[in-house]
Amino acid sequence: MVDTRVTLSGWELDNPVIPASGTFGFGREFAELYDINCLGTFSFKGTTLNPRFGNPTPRIAECTAGMINSVGLQNSGVDEVIAVQLPAMKEYFHKKVIANVSGFSVEEYAETCRRLDECDQIGIFEVNVSCPNVHGGGLSFGTSPEAAAEVTKAVKAVTSKPVYIKLSPNVTDIAAIAKACEDAGADGISLINTLLGMRIDLKSKKPVIANKMGGFSGSAIFPVAVRMVYQVYEAVKVPVIGMGGVSSAEDVIEMMLAGASAVQIGAANLTDPFVCRDIVSDLPAVMEKYGINKLSDIIGGAH
Ligand code: FUM
Repeated sequence: MVDTRVTLSGWELDNPVIPASGTFGFGREFAELYDINCLGTFSFKGTTLNPRFGNPTPRIAECTAGMINSVGLQNSGVDEVIAVQLPAMKEYFHKKVIANVSGFSVEEYAETCRRLDECDQIGIFEVNVSCPNVHGGGLSFGTSPEAAAEVTKAVKAVTSKPVYIKLSPNVTDIAAIAKACEDAGADGISLINTLLGMRIDLKSKKPVIANKMGGFSGSAIFPVAVRMVYQVYEAVKVPVIGMGGVSSAEDVIEMMLAGASAVQIGAANLTDPFVCRDIVSDLPAVMEKYGINKLSDIIGGAH
């Protein structure tokens, strides 16, 4: 019997499989398809202080081995999450969740986390400083070590829960940004968010996406994500959650060998809603195939 358990900042997960924010909502639609309590946990829909309608449509462009999205952080705002989503979630998910939070100022990040801090269902915060689809926020914090550190400090000051900072791959030195977050008190690092991409429609000769550019995700970005997780693992001592193009149990193991303590699955949920359930059930056999008894033993094993 193999051991699939992993630990994030003292929080033990049954397995490292975590649906990524923005691809799993608050889990309700997936809970109608299968018992989502088989998952390690999931990262809920990116939440801001105020409700957001999101970007104009079209917001999605299909690509070879992936997709581009420019949703623009559409969400119902933190107060609705606390009053409606989290109480409803108690009916179908009985583990703690990851709270994914975005903002447009340091104060907004902190205030959103301060309000969520009272919620017992939240295990850790995942602070997204890497959304490529909104102006004046998100990515602008994640491309500068100083700004990412400032957000980290502000959030740490309002919560006693572990704080993980979600980083962008659209930078020249992701390890330096990860290190700045760790030095500012981050308890962990999540990476990677999407790569900035674009498609142009040959008939109209215009960008497919109304916002012109968007975040590219899917299996095409997996090697980039593995490389960046590998680099960040060498730069920091805190746990790393790896993501980017993961779609199989083999990918989960590869990401953990690069340095991930747990692994998120994003775009794959959109083409196969059962993918995370299947990865959880495939993991033991794949571990046995590669002679792995205890999954946590392989974290960073490629270094
Ligand atoms: O546009 C979006 O809502 C995407 C968010 C993200 O990639 O962080």
